[in-house]
Amino acid sequence: MIRPGGGPGPLTRGALRVTIGAVDTFTGKLAVVTGGGSGMGRELARQLAAEGCSVAACDLDAESVEAAAAAARADAPAGVRVTGHACDVSDEAQVLRFRDELLAGHDTDHVDLVFCNAGMGGGESFVAGRRDVWERTFAVDWWGVYYCARAFLPLLIASDEGVLVTTSSVNGLWASLGPGMPQTAYSTAKFAVRGFSEALIEDLRTHAPHVRVAVVLPGHVGTDIVANSLRARGLPEPGQMSDEQVREVIPAGAQARLIQAGLLADGASAAELRQVLVRANADFRDKAPVSAAQAATIILDGVRSGSWRILIGRDARVIDAAVRAKPDAAYDYAELFKGQTASGPS
Ligand SMILES: NC(=O)c1ccc[n+]([C@@H]2O[C@H](COP(=O)([O-])OP(=O)(O)OC[C@H]3O[C@@H](n4cnc5c(N)ncnc54)[C@H](O)[C@@H]3O)[C@@H](O)[C@H]2O)c1
Repeated sequence: MIRPGGGPGPLTRGALRVTIGAVDTFTGKLAVVTGGGSGMGRELARQLAAEGCSVAACDLDAESVEAAAAAARADAPAGVRVTGHACDVSDEAQVLRFRDELLAGHDTDHVDLVFCNAGMGGGESFVAGRRDVWERTFAVDWWGVYYCARAFLPLLIASDEGVLVTTSSVNGLWASLGPGMPQTAYSTAKFAVRGFSEALIEDLRTHAPHVRVAVVLPGHVGTDIVANSLRARGLPEPGQMSDEQVREVIPAGAQARLIQAGLLADGASAAELRQVLVRANADFRDKAPVSAAQAATIILDGVRSGSWRILIGRDARVIDAAVRAKPDAAYDYAELFKGQTASGPS
C-alpha cells in the first residue's frame, strides 16, 4: 500500500530503485531472447551479441533462429556465445527443454536478461472468426510469456541483477485496430502481458528487489509478422497459398472492407487476393515508421536506462496519451484522435 503523507515509504524506495535498475553494460552477460528468428527478436540478439552479451535465442522456426544466431555470432566479439534453439513458447515442456539446453550450452546456473518477445497476430474476431486460431494466438501471446516467466524468473533471481523484458503492444493499451478491424485475441493477450508485467513490479520489489521488469509497447514496427503469423498457423507463405487458404485468410467481410477502401476490385479472383496478402506483408514490413533494428535499439536503451515502460514509435505515444486523456472515447475513433495525424497502430 502506498503510504499517504510522503516520508520514507515504498514510493521513495521505488524511485531510488529506478537508478539502481539502470544497466551499465550488457557486456559479459547472458540474455534469453524468444522469437529470435525474425524481426525485433533477431535484432535484439544481433545487437546484444555485438555488445559482448551472450545470447540464447529460441523460435518456433528452427531454421530462422539458427540463421539469426549465426549472423549474430559473426558480428560478436570473441568469447561471446550465441545459441539458437527450436521451441514453441506456448508449450511448457518445450520451454523447459529450451531452458535446460541453454543452461548446458552456456555452462551457467543463471541468466541476466530475458526478452519474452515471441508473438503472433490472428484471432481478430471473437464473433465471426475460427476458435482454434483465436486460442492459438492467445496461447502464444499470453501463455508463451507466462511459461517463459515461470521457467526463467528463478534464473534471473539467481543472477546479481536481472531484468525480465516482456513485449506487449499498443494493443495492450487500446484493444482495437480502428473501424471495422477488431483485434480480440491479440489484444486480450497483450493486455494480460502488460497487466502481468505491471503487477510484477511490486512483487519483485517485495520478493526479489535485485530483479526488475520492463514492458515493451511497440506501435507499428517493420517486420514480417504478417507472414510469420500465418506460418505459425501452419499456412504457407502468402504467395504459395491455395485459393481456399487465401479466401479463409481474407474472408468475405474483410474483402468487402478492402473493396470499400479501393484496395480490391469487386469480384476479385483468388490470385488477386493472394497478391493483396503478399503486398500487405511487404507494406507492413517496408512502410513502417520504425524498423526492427531501430525498435531493438530503443528496447535496449530503455533497459539500459532502467525504465519499466518502453513505448516504441510516435503512434504508440499518441495512442497512449489519447487513451489516458480520453478513456471514455477510446473506441470513438473520431473523438479519440481529433487533431492527431498519426497512422493507426499495429
Ligand atoms: N511488428 C509490430 O508492429 C509489433 C507491434 C506491437 C507488438 N509487436 C510484438 O513484438 C513481438 C515481436 O514481433 P515482430 O514484429 O518482431 O514479429 P516477427 O514475426 O518478425 O518475429 C516474431 C518471431 O516469433 C516467432 N514465434 C511465433 N510464435 C512462436 C512460438 N509459439 N514460439 C516461439 N517463437 C514463436 C516467429 O516465428 C518469429 O520469428 C511480438 O510479441 C509482437 O506481437 C509487434
